Amino acid sequence: MRALVLCGGAGTRLRPITHTSAKQLVPVANKPVLFYGLEAIAQAGITDVGIIVSGIDTEIEQSVGDGSKFGIEATYIIQEVPLGIAHAVLVARDFLGSEDFVLYLGDNFIVGGITGLVDKFRTERPDAQILLTRVPDPTAFGVAELDGKGRLTSLVEKPKEPKSDLALVGVYFFTVAIHEAVRSIDVSWRGELEITHAIQWLVEQRKDVRSTTITGYWKDTGNVIDMLEVNRSVLEEIEPRIQGDVDEVSEIIGRVEIAEGARVRRSRVVGPAIIGTDTVVVDSYIGPYTSISEGCRIEDSEIEFSIVLRDASIKEVRRVHASLIGRSVEVSQAPPVPHAHRLVLGDHSKVEISS
Ligand code: TTP
Repeated sequence: MRALVLCGGAGTRLRPITHTSAKQLVPVANKPVLFYGLEAIAQAGITDVGIIVSGIDTEIEQSVGDGSKFGIEATYIIQEVPLGIAHAVLVARDFLGSEDFVLYLGDNFIVGGITGLVDKFRTERPDAQILLTRVPDPTAFGVAELDGKGRLTSLVEKPKEPKSDLALVGVYFFTVAIHEAVRSIDVSWRGELEITHAIQWLVEQRKDVRSTTITGYWKDTGNVIDMLEVNRSVLEEIEPRIQGDVDEVSEIIGRVEIAEGARVRRSRVVGPAIIGTDTVVVDSYIGPYTSISEGCRIEDSEIEFSIVLRDASIKEVRRVHASLIGRSVEVSQAPPVPHAHRLVLGDHSKVEISS
């Protein structure tokens, strides 16, 4: 059995972060979201892993390498234009051959791994196995309709009037039957080859398509709020560990991880929170559900429920909340007079100013 992990895509919902970086590499508790998926795949005993990349830059290749650090063998497959998830399957045809495979969306996060699901699929081998989960707003997802016996009767991509609250999770299991399906479907109204259409095609061909409704935690980290939410849930589980240098007047409360080389001075850190290598926190408050990557500087500021990417600095700002701050970003206080906001923001930035 092989795995196909999707790391292409446009990532429009996470702009401007995705202008300069792949969304699959945004860190959750200071580890790229993609790495959690690769670890789950390795844990399930799958070693041949194809990774779909856009070919525009080599960031994913650089951080995953040959895959050996995860115990997998990574093969990179370029999808030049992100024409949809089913299109990625089409592009990966040679890599997949006639093997069964798990299709894993690189920005999806599933707690508890996939080992049990892989074992079940290996034993039962239906033509396709999908995972569903109940969501409050199904209109943003692929939505499944089941018959009285729990069999899948239809799958609709982002329906305006959803027939259930069962959303399709971004982890799918397929046999070779999917290849004919992805060749047979047409491009959707949004110009993509949709995996939901390919699965629906299998249903219409009376193939054996099974669904399992999972109750564990699953999130698609495609937008900022979901990214912060996944970060919150992972931080809830971290083991407190102080390896960095914390001075005597600083206060560390709850689940807090402070990496080696980090320095905390005259500050208060209330967990769950994580502070990366070589980050400096001075005269500041770091509140719950905050991940600060390596090489950052937080000075005379307050921040909570946020993710700060590497080498960013925040100076004399309070309070930063529910924010995703990109690499090498500088956030600072404007001079008090004149009372005005001075902004240098990249394309597609979003700023909320509270005064
Ligand atoms: P999506 O989040 O559905 O699409 P996207 O990445 O284009 O993002 P947005 O909707 O914000 O513009 O993609 C799910 C995953 O699949 C993600 O990891 C990117 C990947 N993907 C591909 O590799 N190729 C594709 O053609 C598409 C559409 C997605």
